[in-house]
Amino acid sequence: MTDSPISTRIDGDVLIITSNNPPVNALGAAVRIGLDAGLKEALDNDAVQAVVVRCDGRTFFAGADITEFTKPPVEPMLNVVIDRFEASPKPVIAAIHGTALGGGCEVTLGCHYRIAVPSAKIGTPEVKLGLLPGAGGTQRLPRVAGIETAVEMCAGGSPISASKALEVGLVDKLAGEDSLEADAIAFARECIAKGPRPSREMPVKGDPASIEAYAKANAKKFRGFEAPAANIACVEAATRLPFDEGIAFERQNFMKLMMGAQSAAQRHIFFAERQAAKIDGIGDDVNPRPVKKVGVIGAGTMGGGISMNFLSAGIPVTIVEMKQDALDRGTGVMRKNYEASAAKGRLKPEQVEQAMGLLTPTLSLEDLADCDLVIEAVFEQMEIKKEIFGKLDTICKPGAILASNTSYLDIDEIAASTSRPQDVLGMHFFSPANVMKLLEVVRGDKTAPDALVTAMGIAKKIGKVAVVAGVCHGFIGNRMLMPRQVEAMKLLMEGATPAQVDKVHVDFGMPMGPFQMSDLAGVDIGWHRDPNLIENVRDALCAKGRWGQKTGKGFYDYDEKRTPSPSAEVQAILDDFAAKSGAVKREISDEEIVERTLYPMVNEGYLILEEGKAQRASDIDVVWIYGYGWPVYRGGPMFWGDLEGAKKIVAGLEKHGFAVAKSLKAKAG
Ligand code: 3HC
Repeated sequence: MTDSPISTRIDGDVLIITSNNPPVNALGAAVRIGLDAGLKEALDNDAVQAVVVRCDGRTFFAGADITEFTKPPVEPMLNVVIDRFEASPKPVIAAIHGTALGGGCEVTLGCHYRIAVPSAKIGTPEVKLGLLPGAGGTQRLPRVAGIETAVEMCAGGSPISASKALEVGLVDKLAGEDSLEADAIAFARECIAKGPRPSREMPVKGDPASIEAYAKANAKKFRGFEAPAANIACVEAATRLPFDEGIAFERQNFMKLMMGAQSAAQRHIFFAERQAAKIDGIGDDVNPRPVKKVGVIGAGTMGGGISMNFLSAGIPVTIVEMKQDALDRGTGVMRKNYEASAAKGRLKPEQVEQAMGLLTPTLSLEDLADCDLVIEAVFEQMEIKKEIFGKLDTICKPGAILASNTSYLDIDEIAASTSRPQDVLGMHFFSPANVMKLLEVVRGDKTAPDALVTAMGIAKKIGKVAVVAGVCHGFIGNRMLMPRQVEAMKLLMEGATPAQVDKVHVDFGMPMGPFQMSDLAGVDIGWHRDPNLIENVRDALCAKGRWGQKTGKGFYDYDEKRTPSPSAEVQAILDDFAAKSGAVKREISDEEIVERTLYPMVNEGYLILEEGKAQRASDIDVVWIYGYGWPVYRGGPMFWGDLEGAKKIVAGLEKHGFAVAKSLKAKAG
């Protein structure tokens, strides 16, 4: 067993099985083989009275090895190993630290007793991979932790704390934070007299009615996903089927999910998200610059939201505005946002004060002199940005990173207004910036590798998923949005309605369609503000005060609860423009809407890759999942494009007269 990640040692009458399989002790084949052998050793040794299962490194088993899911199975399977531990005539104790997740949680359920350090977390996040706990978790959890906790853990996927686990019976005892192994051995000795306590023999605890209540309460959140319902069904099965039949039901559902497209998409995104953090051509030898203090220019919605990310992570922020009232308004909104989170119980009141205490509002750019990173979030106008960067160049200390939050503008041109283009890059946050997980880090021609590494590192620190983008109009996300918006508008001229186009997108799984999005963001964004100059539908809507939800009307009419309804006024404007353009109105099928709004996005993704503006296709998927709410169960536009098939996409694009990207055409063969 010298190469095995599993080792054993004997402490008097207790055998300790230890896994050391970095980084997260995933339960791959070698671990399962080792665990099995460790148990056999314990059973074969008469001197051993109890067994402790523990892990070295940063965490207890964080789950099955996801990379094995697409490979041929290797025995012993995890459920078999867990059954063997549960059947042990000698009590087995799980000693938990870090995160016992998925198969790791199921291992603890196969053990007879559980002890954990107070900082440990236990969870079954399989649902986030489009799966369910497939090694007995859905059947053992309702017995050990109760139905209510089981359904929340399995269908919701969030881990619970060690103290909550203790409260519900998922953990029997808390250990000292630094004395887990010794405490587990002592606990194992206490358990010898009690003997084994197989989870499968315990009755299911709790009220089965909580299952339906949970399903109802979360129906909206689960829309479109297959896995939550399957998790709920399995927990429900535990309440009425004998254990072995429940296990058979779990297995059948697990396999169905595993073979399905949704889980493949969700697993793709799990790895894509982690891959996105890696920068091609930059090795581990490039170190980030320290970021101890951040400056943000602009206290509007964007600047305020950006600042909150850093404050929440404990990093001091100096925020600059031009006028006192705008500064007061901006910081007031930030406080209100924090207080709203506190009112919902997401923050403690003292955390609000802690965060706001790290904020220094000022009217002077000079106060940014000691910042390590400055993010400009002012009006989207090149001349203004260049002026600001020119000033920053004279104010900021050497080595400070100068970032722009621009959504479209040329970072290289901005960088050229400084004498230090190597320190300039884009950090494009998505609105609301304190909530949305995506950050596009835009790499300019001259951006230094360590500046880029710093931006990617700080993104992780503030809880963002960062993707490297090249300089081009709209970078990755907004560039792909453009053909969709253009085509959606053309469809209206040809006979589709805003409601029809939006419905196709919502049915696809997007949080909203193109016109709902315009109404939410503001139809007037970028409008010239002259009500007499009407050249397109947007001008006509804006001239009539139809600026979107904020004025109660946009592409839709809104009531006081912001419920949309179709608008006769909008239809008349559309009819008028359609007549002027000579477009012949016809019936538009939902299929055509998909072909004309989603296929061009895939096509644009291929162009972005051809031009080297994204490092890899999976980065584009990450952008759309975390920045625009593309349904994760469809894996992002590039993954979805592959599922649809390049041939079909090319045929669809050509049918509607689009120019097809060379690489996409080549893929179609
Ligand atoms: N299998 C294979 N690799 C895994 C893995 C897993 N279960 N979990 C993490 N990894 C890999 C990551 O891909 C990453 O690899 P990389 O360094 O090459 O990019 C590395 O381990 C470190 O992971 P993170 O960057 O995510 O490290 P963090 O410290 O930020 O987070 C974690 C640690 C909370 C454990 C997080 O990795 C995580 O949530 N992992 C997945 C947990 C999970 O989903 N478990 C259920 C698996 S399915 C299952 O168990 C089925 C069973 O019911 C039969």
